[in-house]
Amino acid sequence: MLSNRAGDSKRSSLHGHWSSRMAFILAVTGSAVGLGNIWKFPYIAGQNGGGAFVLVYLVCVIVIGMPVMMSEILIGRRGRRNPVATMELLGKEEGSSSHWRLVGTLGVLAGILILSYYSVIAGWTLAYVVKSASGVFVGASAEAVGENFASFVGDWRLVALCHTLFMGLAVFVVARGVERGLEQAVRFMVPALLFLMLVLLGYSINSGYFGEGVAFMFTPDFERLTWNSVLAALGQAFFTLSIGMGAIMAYGAYLPEETSITGASAAVVTADTAIAMLAGLAIFPLVFANNLDPADGPGLVFDTLPLAFGQMAGGVFFSTVFFVLLAFAAWTSAIGLMEPAVAWIVERFSKTRAQATVMTGSIIWLVGLGSVLSFNVLADLKFLAGTIFDNVDYLTSNIMLPLGGLLIVVFAGWVMCRNSTADELGGSGTLYKAWRLLARFIAPVGILFVLINAIK
Ligand code: PFF
Repeated sequence: MLSNRAGDSKRSSLHGHWSSRMAFILAVTGSAVGLGNIWKFPYIAGQNGGGAFVLVYLVCVIVIGMPVMMSEILIGRRGRRNPVATMELLGKEEGSSSHWRLVGTLGVLAGILILSYYSVIAGWTLAYVVKSASGVFVGASAEAVGENFASFVGDWRLVALCHTLFMGLAVFVVARGVERGLEQAVRFMVPALLFLMLVLLGYSINSGYFGEGVAFMFTPDFERLTWNSVLAALGQAFFTLSIGMGAIMAYGAYLPEETSITGASAAVVTADTAIAMLAGLAIFPLVFANNLDPADGPGLVFDTLPLAFGQMAGGVFFSTVFFVLLAFAAWTSAIGLMEPAVAWIVERFSKTRAQATVMTGSIIWLVGLGSVLSFNVLADLKFLAGTIFDNVDYLTSNIMLPLGGLLIVVFAGWVMCRNSTADELGGSGTLYKAWRLLARFIAPVGILFVLINAIK
């Protein structure tokens, strides 16, 4: 059977294209590597008991994350539009339904909701740049660092100001467009971040508690594993790889035809996982060395790393650079979170990129005020999963992303015809067969199984 694509001419994207294969890999890595690796992974692993969670997370990354990422890129490149329009177009082209566009709509919403709180935490990192540079952490005790964090997040005006600043930065880059804005930011950030994680790792190896940290992360205690923590691991795999919400689909739309989707996905998944593991290995020994609680929650990184920097030679410098890099990592991820909404508004309502970005950014900023307040004024307002922040996080990571990912692999594995996917993935060899097996059976069944068991 011939490919389902009408005519043989290849489409091109309205929004421009990546200048090279490397630019694409950098952009996807920039979107994947972010607060999810350094801020979220350690605290979620800590809250879910460590070892068994980490193991489930790694399995989810490999058998679910990798095929979903490949599916998202191939769908994006084939449609070459915003995620809503791409799903609608391919749904029709593959002889199914235009309602598949709802997968794109779900992604646009997920991106807006995730960025609403992501920007708040990214704002914390901006504040920590200033705190680090001013030397407040030099020689500080664990209590002092902890109190510093608590009084900072307790001040809603300050947190709101940092959130506003960060959203301003995100809007600025996204408004500049694909080539000028997105590519520039990631070129040096990932290698530099890796380097600093290694410096921190060196410190934690010498902390005397490295063995405890490693044991916590890698000794699985399955007794502590509940279906909810399996869902948290699955959600974290989606979150950290930026999949399940159309961001990678939007990036795939700007990908040149000849780039290998499998190779690019493998590179991104490896870099992302390595950085999360390094973050855990740097942080948990410090937690045990200072009698802190691994289940500390969202403040974990802000309570541990400044402590290590405060005791290091050159700590003021390293700490400042580290938080600058973390803010950069968050920045390149924020771009991915906005891209589906912005590309959709540009195409659907014929707005300029700048107008679409300002509109999206304003909505996200407003929604984000809920998360700003959930660490102070509204800290006691708890329902369902906890505070407003907890609820937005749970809804997006644990429900919207897995659901979006499920629909995306089902679409690529079952709705798209074999020739269309083989065409995008470059042939029908062993790798293609492995992808298809994962995309048709293992990933969808795995996601459904976890979702059903955790939610019932
Ligand atoms: N992957 C990012 C992180 O780990 O911080 C978060 C993220 C970015 C999720 C972009 C989704 C996205 F589209």
